[in-house]
Amino acid sequence: MDVFNTIRTRRTVRDFKPDPVPSEIVHKLLQTARWSPSSSNNQPWHFVAVQDRETIKKLGEIATQGPFIADAPLIIVVVMDGAFRPTLDAGRAIQQMELYAWSEGMGTCFIGFREVDQQRQVKELLDIPQEMELITTLPFGYRAEKPKGQGVPRKPLSEIAHSERFGNGYDGG
Ligand SMILES: Cc1cc2nc3c(=O)[nH]c(=O)nc-3n(C[C@H](O)[C@H](O)[C@H](O)COP(=O)(O)O)c2cc1C
Repeated sequence: MDVFNTIRTRRTVRDFKPDPVPSEIVHKLLQTARWSPSSSNNQPWHFVAVQDRETIKKLGEIATQGPFIADAPLIIVVVMDGAFRPTLDAGRAIQQMELYAWSEGMGTCFIGFREVDQQRQVKELLDIPQEMELITTLPFGYRAEKPKGQGVPRKPLSEIAHSERFGNGYDGG
């Protein structure tokens, strides 16, 4: 799949087949995160790959925003350690994993933890130092749901793209 096509067809996936993710694919997912760009190349991240069913079930119980993560065969938890702009760096790594996963017939869904207590519970469960910043849990698995055509709608380019100066209509050329 070429890069544009991967980006254009990717959809958030919330329904996974139970099939395990082969270890070489888990390794490649982590490699795509590792090779992501970061500010000053600080690489202020950690990625906890969880495949133990009991641990995944417990993560699903904590994740009230996305309890379906309990059904994923793999969860990668993204943690930042002292980053200047953690969400920018983490976002690059997350997107790289998501696009690679899509190209392998897999999918994921960003599930964050808004409540401080939820974050504390996840850190405790996975032995993540409490002072680190928990960004998200990404459930990964082979896609069980059919891609939904064009996907969730996006604003038209005429609303968000500008030509030369802000406010000059983009002509789509
Ligand atoms: C920062 C961020 C947080 C998100 N949080 C959730 C979430 O808690 N639960 C959920 O089901 N989807 C979550 N999503 C997925 C978005 O709802 C989804 O990306 C958006 O609706 C566009 O759909 P698409 O990814 O299929 O194109 C999140 C996405 C991002 C980027």
